[in-house]
Amino acid sequence: MGNIKTAVLPVAGMGTRVLPATKTIPKELLPVIDRPALQYVVDEARDAGIEHFVFVTGRNKNAIEDYFDNAFELTENLKAKNKTEILERVQSSELPAGAASFVRQKSPQGLGHAVWCAKQIVGREPFAVLLPDVITQAATPVMKQLVDAFDRVGGNIVAVDPVPIERVSSYGVISPVERDGRLVRMNGMVEKPPRDTAPSNLAITGRYILQPEIFDLLEDQGPGAGNEIQLTDAMLRLMQTQNFHAFEFEGQPFDCGSIPGYFEAVLAFGLARTDTKDVFDRYANSSTLQPA
Ligand code: G1P
Repeated sequence: MGNIKTAVLPVAGMGTRVLPATKTIPKELLPVIDRPALQYVVDEARDAGIEHFVFVTGRNKNAIEDYFDNAFELTENLKAKNKTEILERVQSSELPAGAASFVRQKSPQGLGHAVWCAKQIVGREPFAVLLPDVITQAATPVMKQLVDAFDRVGGNIVAVDPVPIERVSSYGVISPVERDGRLVRMNGMVEKPPRDTAPSNLAITGRYILQPEIFDLLEDQGPGAGNEIQLTDAMLRLMQTQNFHAFEFEGQPFDCGSIPGYFEAVLAFGLARTDTKDVFDRYANSSTLQPA
C-alpha cells in the first residue's frame, strides 16, 4: 500500500485555547473517551500505511514520548494480574522501537517552521503531515483517502473541507479551478484570509502529502499571517513548479484545539461506540435529562 511511509506531527503548540487544562498536560494528550486525541491521529496514519512518525515537540511535551513507549511496570503488572484485555489496549497504543522520532522546535515560529524542523529526519522522500488538533471520523480514514488519491495523481495533496464562510479566516483556504470527483485542481491558497477576500470556503484541514522540495522553500520562507512562518505560503510557492491538488475528503473533522470542537469530538466518538452510546444518547439530548 502507498509510498508514503513517514508522517510529521507538529505537537509543539501550547494549547492556549484549552488552558488551564493544558497547563501540565499536552493538549494532544487530552482524552477523547478513553484515549488521547493524538492516539486517533496516529491510528489514522497507521491505517494509511505510515510506519515512521516524526513528532515536532517543544518544552513540556515529554509526556508524548512516554505515551508511545512501553510502560514497563504497568505492562508487567497487568500481565501478572492476567488483565489481558486492558494489556492489549495499552500495548496497541505503543509505537514499535524505531518507529517514532522526536525533534524540538525550540521556539514557536509557526507551522511552516515546525514542519521544517523535521527535514533531517524525513530526508528526500514524499511524506505526510497530520495536525493533531484535527481528529476525524470517517468510513475510510482520511489519511488513507489522501494516500489513495496520491497513488493516482502523485505530487502534493492537501485535504480540504467546506466550512461556513464566516469561519474561513481561521484556516488556510484554497482557490479551486476544476473538479474531478473529490479531487480539486486549484490555482492558489491563502492563510487566514478575511471573509470578504477569501477565494472559496474550502478550508485546509490538517492532512497533507508533500514532496521534500517543501523543505527547501521553508528554509527561506518569511513570516506571513500572524507573523509566523506559514506552511501555506511555502505550499503556494511549491505549486508554481509542482503538481498540487486539494482533496475534499469524506468524513467529519473535529478541531480538538478549541473547547467546542473538543466536546463535539467527545460526543461524536462517544455516540459511535457501543459501550458508551447509550449514556451519550441520553445526555446529548438534554431535554430527556432527569434531575438527579
Ligand atoms: C493550521 C494551518 C491552516 C489550516 C488549520 C486547520 O492553522 O496553518 O492552513 O487550515 O491549521 O487544519 P492553525 O489552526 O494552526 O492556526
